[in-house]
Amino acid sequence: MLRRLLAVLMLVCSAPSAAPTPQPAEIIAYRQSLFRVIRWNVGYLVEMASGRAEWNAADFARRAARVAALSRQLDEAFVPGSDSGALTDAKPEIWTDPEDFAGRLRDFQAQARALARVARGDDIDAAKAEFGKTMRTCKACHDRYRAE
Ligand code: HEC
Repeated sequence: MLRRLLAVLMLVCSAPSAAPTPQPAEIIAYRQSLFRVIRWNVGYLVEMASGRAEWNAADFARRAARVAALSRQLDEAFVPGSDSGALTDAKPEIWTDPEDFAGRLRDFQAQARALARVARGDDIDAAKAEFGKTMRTCKACHDRYRAE
């Protein structure tokens, strides 16, 4: 039994590693999942930044760091060809004007990084200001590239 298991393992491990080629529907699911996880964390940040929830510096910093890390994963989420294949609100302009789109994605990533950095400090007003700027980068992209 053990020998057979080892043989199978060796076979699996020695198989030539091909680059994964996800289907459009998988890419769409991937990006929508990323946005939902981003939204999950942003929801807590909104509550704290607006004063509806008590300020918790450690939690704010932790969630800001998550958003910054997740924003980088969007680099793989808008592969050409993933404009259809499943229900998606991504507009075709993403792929017909890729430079402008990439610029807005970079703005979000840079701003999320700035937010994560400031959130590690103890200046609450500065953290709130960076958070406001980050939310504007969401809107700047949604206005043009996300269908209502
Ligand atoms: C560079 C462009 C861009 C940026 C920046 C961006 N979004 Fe999006 N977002 C999109 C697009 C495009 C979709 C539609 C994706 C789809 O349906 O395939 C989307 C979808 C979403 C969804 C819906 C996901 C679902 O299907 O359930 C949420 C929630 C969301 N974004 C939140 C955010 C938040 C919060 C931010 C900022 C913190 C943000 N987005 C920043 C482009 C962007």
